[in-house]
Amino acid sequence: MQVHVVEHPLIAHKLTELRRQETPSNIFRQLTEELVMLLAYEATRNLELEDVEIQTPVTKTVGKRVMRPRPLVVPILRAGLGMLEGMVRMAPTAEVGFLGMARNEETLDIVTYAERLPADLTGRHVFVLDPMLATGGTLAESINFLYQRNARRVTCICLLGAPEGLARLEESHGDVDVDLYLASIDEKLTDKAYIYPGLGDAGDRLYGVAE
Ligand code: URA
Repeated sequence: MQVHVVEHPLIAHKLTELRRQETPSNIFRQLTEELVMLLAYEATRNLELEDVEIQTPVTKTVGKRVMRPRPLVVPILRAGLGMLEGMVRMAPTAEVGFLGMARNEETLDIVTYAERLPADLTGRHVFVLDPMLATGGTLAESINFLYQRNARRVTCICLLGAPEGLARLEESHGDVDVDLYLASIDEKLTDKAYIYPGLGDAGDRLYGVAE
């Protein structure tokens, strides 16, 4: 697993606005979209290309296009949905699939409650979107799920991570071919599994639940 914290003045600025308690959900959604676009620029650096012959107004030439089969973007429901628009703006040829995962509060196991993905992911580069890498359980399960379906490569894009979640992922997936892109690794996880200082509940803030 390779962890990339993307350092850029615009990311630092937008992330601070995102964290602010008084940022309303319409601005929160807009900032999330912009941050994902900036992170996606880095996270798609390894997309494979193939040659394509085109006609310009002047001549025929050979250009590049993203290799087929098309990349697959998978937002993890619910909060990952807020990252989808930014990602597909940057990768407009990508196909979109969905994974809903939640923790069973009794057993603490991660349960897949919704899934809309191709049955066979052979040859596919999959981009997982999940804003908050807290305990790492959901991301670990989604990576397993995608590799079980034969994904060729998995890249995860998160806004924030907690050191505890990263350590857990490192332990379970340290030798798995996964790239993880984040805007920040925060200080810690609270005893209620919130990222600290964090930004609160990303899903609630995206969808105006707390307003
Ligand atoms: N999920 C969130 O939405 N926020 C956190 O801080 C941790 C997990």
